[in-house]
Amino acid sequence: MTDIGPVQARYTAAAHRLADVPLDQAGLGCGNPVAVADLNPGETVLDLGSGAGLDVLVSARRVGPAGRVIGLDMTPEMLDLARRHAAEQAVTNVEFHRGRIEDIPLPDGSVDVVISNCVITLSADKPRVFAEIARVLRPGGRIGITDVLADFSLTDAERAAGADRVECLTSSLTTDDYVAALATAGLAGIEVHRTHQVADKLHAALIRAAKPLRQNRSTVVVGVMKSEHAEQVLAVYQAGLDTGNASFETIAPSWDQWDQAHLAAHRFVATDSTGAVLGWIAATPVSSRCVYAGVLEHSVYVHPDHHGRGIGTALLTTYIAATEAAGVWTLQSGVFPENTESLALHRNSGFRTVGTRERIGRHHGVWRDVVLIERRSHSCGPV
Ligand SMILES: C[S@@+](CC[C@H](N)C(=O)[O-])C[C@H]1O[C@@H](n2cnc3c(N)ncnc32)[C@H](O)[C@@H]1O
Repeated sequence: MTDIGPVQARYTAAAHRLADVPLDQAGLGCGNPVAVADLNPGETVLDLGSGAGLDVLVSARRVGPAGRVIGLDMTPEMLDLARRHAAEQAVTNVEFHRGRIEDIPLPDGSVDVVISNCVITLSADKPRVFAEIARVLRPGGRIGITDVLADFSLTDAERAAGADRVECLTSSLTTDDYVAALATAGLAGIEVHRTHQVADKLHAALIRAAKPLRQNRSTVVVGVMKSEHAEQVLAVYQAGLDTGNASFETIAPSWDQWDQAHLAAHRFVATDSTGAVLGWIAATPVSSRCVYAGVLEHSVYVHPDHHGRGIGTALLTTYIAATEAAGVWTLQSGVFPENTESLALHRNSGFRTVGTRERIGRHHGVWRDVVLIERRSHSCGPV
């Protein structure tokens, strides 16, 4: 565990500062997770990093006397302040616990909804926070979070230069990283909507996701592709090309050629517990014309030895969430009709067949058809 002393000292000072401030002005968050979570009477809600208790008390009203809201915070002075606010408002269906969001002191499956307002971005171990969220949620439970995300274009140098001014800047994830981390924790139905800019290259966002009713026990992790994956990405690509049903290409290009041909954003790899790459997904723009800015074409490859393990679905799900969060309204791909596995994978992820382009290109001297498939976003683009 990292040393939390300096961070906690900052929130101890913040609690003293907020002590004389009316509750409705005592928020240190960046949005309204209660609205995002759409709470119902009777639900049990957990607020991660509850601060002065504002979101806990609003939630308490929403879940009513049959419901319960738990605030979790690591700073004793913040907990005292939140308890005082609850007492002043005579709210009784709330409780506040001291603890870390990386190690939530609650049993498995004990919470219907996890909310959090601008706290997860501060954690030095976000994968652990997401794993803990998935653990304490009941199957079918959901999250409604507001948090801060870094723009994809934020360089390491800018991050270091700005870290003195904006605390979140040291650790905020990009949308791609955030989505991949939620998916790796086993959460599904991930939606990210950017709301407003909080600093240069930092945006607040609303994040929703749910814990599936049946948990996939896969040990495969989906993460953002890094340059160290290059060799293995090309090897998986070549293994796909060797099947004869993946692409018109027959030989995988060099890394430089591959790198230049694909967008820098929305590249993901699926790795096993040893870090070996089992599959990848990446995009190319379909046109340089700005009217098509929200239309991307993707390639998804899973090593033939690892088909049937849900890896393609995991990659596609992460890619869909990340591209929708970036405002992409149409995803398309071309698939050989003989590649029935890929067509089924895409169909199950909401793609439809636009049509078949007959004898559109030659592969090993044979004219072949390509099925054009597309997925229109429900959350962005034309209504
Ligand atoms: C930016 S404030 C947000 C407070 C509150 N959610 C709000 O909207 O006003 C961050 C709060 O999270 C707590 N916090 C930060 N990191 C934490 C961690 N790793 N575990 C538990 N609490 C944490 C701090 O003590 C502080 O009260």
